[in-house]
Amino acid sequence: MLTIRIGNLTFASPVLTASGTFGYGDEVSDLVNVDLLGGIVTKSVTLHPREGNPPPRISETPFGMLNSIGLANVGVEKFCKEKLPKFKKMDTHVFVNIAGYAIGDYVETLERIEVEDSTISGYEINVSCPNVKKGGMQFGVDPKLTEQLTRALRDKTDKILILKLSPNVTKIEDIAQAAVAGGADMISAINTVVGMGIDIATRRPSLNTVFGGLSGPAIKPIALANIHKIYKSVSVPIIGIGGISSAKDAIEFMLAGADLVQVGTSNFINPAIGINIISELKSYCEKENIKSLHDIKGKLEYQ
Ligand SMILES: Cc1cc2nc3c(=O)[nH]c(=O)nc-3n(C[C@H](O)[C@H](O)[C@H](O)COP(=O)(O)O)c2cc1C
Repeated sequence: MLTIRIGNLTFASPVLTASGTFGYGDEVSDLVNVDLLGGIVTKSVTLHPREGNPPPRISETPFGMLNSIGLANVGVEKFCKEKLPKFKKMDTHVFVNIAGYAIGDYVETLERIEVEDSTISGYEINVSCPNVKKGGMQFGVDPKLTEQLTRALRDKTDKILILKLSPNVTKIEDIAQAAVAGGADMISAINTVVGMGIDIATRRPSLNTVFGGLSGPAIKPIALANIHKIYKSVSVPIIGIGGISSAKDAIEFMLAGADLVQVGTSNFINPAIGINIISELKSYCEKENIKSLHDIKGKLEYQ
């Protein structure tokens, strides 16, 4: 009853882990059986290794957190050598999240991964990281650039291509439509919401970069609104992300139009949260006599 079919992929459950909040899946394998998840999405991989932003780059907020990690990662070369082979041992879908500063960066990174013999199911394209001062952001706020980027990547892969959208835009529907026009198979949303915190004792911002990305339960209503807008504007499958920490949250996203969900910040409180949500979803379906979670997609009722 939790099985979801999307194209030629079968997801054992609709719950995946979100980029940047679950490493590469292997770090937590002592604590969590990742094979029980519907899938994992890796931390963003870039063409070259990145140290990320200087600390403080994480700060707690009421019902959430701010981060300005700045895409710290090992770079695609080391990723292919050290991380990619480990995914072969995992019996779940792995999506590699890619970020870049120019269309060429994204394309080169994807092409480098494509030539490896790997079992990954596809790519999630980060067009929306608000932490990086240069680049990245412009793709996600501009429909033309989003379409161009998507098309350039579509030309290079037959694997599932997911475009991950930012909520920090005027009209997310336009960006979603552009991604689909460029050949995206799916849309995921949302990435973090621009935010800042202030320490009144030092009168300094809580993050070194001043502005950062807000995540966690605080952003759930923003995420739900964005998912519903996307659902109303495109017909490709949608992955809901933003403040999910229970089966109830996941079901709200499905009613708003999501096929699958990703759990992010909640993993820092409990890395097994995704698996707990899966068993809660099973109980919910049994209790409500729901044969397939596909049946509740977009079933929000209003005039
Ligand atoms: C510490 C941290 C690091 C993140 N790193 C990435 C990243 O590398 N790439 C990306 O696309 N999203 C990244 N995200 C965004 C999450 O994947 C997710 O879209 C966002 O946090 C909203 O979901 P949540 O409220 O469940 O955390 C990061 C989020 C956090 C909190």
